[in-house]
Amino acid sequence: TRVVVLISGSGSNLQALIDGQSSAGLPIEIAAVISNRPNVKGLERAAQAGIEAITLDHKGFESREAFDAALAEHIDSYRPDLIVLAGFMRILTPAFTQRYCGRMLNIHPSLLPKYQGLNTHQRALDAGDSEHGVTVHFVTAELDGGPAAIQAVVPILAGDDASILASRVQAQEHVIYPMAVQWFAEGKLTMADNKALLDGEPL
Ligand code: GRF
Repeated sequence: TRVVVLISGSGSNLQALIDGQSSAGLPIEIAAVISNRPNVKGLERAAQAGIEAITLDHKGFESREAFDAALAEHIDSYRPDLIVLAGFMRILTPAFTQRYCGRMLNIHPSLLPKYQGLNTHQRALDAGDSEHGVTVHFVTAELDGGPAAIQAVVPILAGDDASILASRVQAQEHVIYPMAVQWFAEGKLTMADNKALLDGEPL
């Protein structure tokens, strides 16, 4: 399974996929890593692993549509089976999400449908929730709204602040994202009629 990973920052989820290839036999080939921000740590991680790493700076484009069109052109040149958004902090146009419908995954740090958008950890704390977590979902036109493939739940503990909670969540991200990607690569995880299916059964 050929994968293109899109990032904007540190790339710890990218690293989890890279590590999964060697340690757990994750059956993917990461054809390229594309960042919309220059000089981020995730690009270094890709280069370190011998993966083609390119920057496509969204600031060089006059519209979201123009950026997404250029991004799609780059992605398609690698002929991927799967697009993995790993901390890619850009809202995508409907044309882009439709193009990769059923073969693009995202990871979002909340128990969706709760807390779509930003600052999820602080929002969970402010709401007094006792649990929080992370969701891997198929990407559709609706921001953070596509069907979920897998979630991990973490407790919220007395004395937590947003950064402690974020690291507890991130540890789970690095477990469930490689798992979801593996399911996809094995043909177990699919999407049909806006539903995620595992072994053909709705999740
Ligand atoms: C993760 O918390 C992810 O859930 C969110 O952005 C962060 C990316 O982290 N969408 P990294 O770049 O993979 O380290």
